[in-house]
Amino acid sequence: MAETKVLAIIGSPRKNGNTGRMVEEIRKRLLTEDPGIGFETLFLADMSLSMCKGCFVCFSEGRENCPLKDDRDLIEEKMLSADAVIFAAPTYANGVPALMKNLIDRFAFACHRPFLFGRAVLCVATVGGIIGVKQTLSQLAMMAPGNRPVKLGISCPPIEMAGLKKRTDRKLGRAAKLFYRKISSRRQRSPGLLNLAYFSSFKAMSAFDTYRKACPADFDYYRDREYFYPLNGHPLSRMLGKAISGLMTISLGFVIKR
Ligand SMILES: Cc1cc2nc3c(=O)[nH]c(=O)nc-3n(C[C@H](O)[C@H](O)[C@H](O)COP(=O)(O)O)c2cc1C
Repeated sequence: MAETKVLAIIGSPRKNGNTGRMVEEIRKRLLTEDPGIGFETLFLADMSLSMCKGCFVCFSEGRENCPLKDDRDLIEEKMLSADAVIFAAPTYANGVPALMKNLIDRFAFACHRPFLFGRAVLCVATVGGIIGVKQTLSQLAMMAPGNRPVKLGISCPPIEMAGLKKRTDRKLGRAAKLFYRKISSRRQRSPGLLNLAYFSSFKAMSAFDTYRKACPADFDYYRDREYFYPLNGHPLSRMLGKAISGLMTISLGFVIKR
């Protein structure tokens, strides 16, 4: 059997900081579950990733036309060749630091056209106290819309606190187990109603002439797709998807000009 590959992307400017340490703990626990796992860590601090210019080209014409020529494509290749991805960042002022925010912006087209859909995803956020960790985790989850990632928020205060090590170990163990379960049950299941609605809404919207002109890449992506992955053997999902698309076309017809 082919080796399972896990890629961890760390968005802390401190390569030897708390976030890297927590990802290392997750790595150790995953290797205990399966010593054959291939684990790669990528520090955004080492990558060349220019600031998103907000030109919308990735949304409208496709990410391959992004005018910024840097490590974006390499990072995407690494994500796509992994079976599971970890997005990890510290909390800076109630959210991810600029390094990670820029990655999220450079891949924001994924809200329209998810590219990691179906992969196991773990989001790890560290925080000095407790404030902001939820926001950091939900920003990290933007890298893989629709995936329902495992989320792990860990407090790393600069002072020693009673019982903290035990709590941290417990949290790390639980998250690693859950993530490993997702990695090993990596099969294409019947889509849930929310994901069907997500797909069908974009499919319906992208077929409107005005939308199609503004965002041809969405039209091309959704035109011949029945779902994010082939739905062989799921006639009920297929019917439901068509019904939701039909309903969305009717309701969007009231708000979007043809
Ligand atoms: C610029 C900056 C902003 C921060 N903002 C917060 C915050 O809003 N809430 C919080 O609890 N901790 C905050 N912290 C603490 C970090 O989230 C925490 O120390 C984190 O574990 C650092 O991870 P690292 O060592 O991987 O960089 C901040 C730290 C820095 C440097």
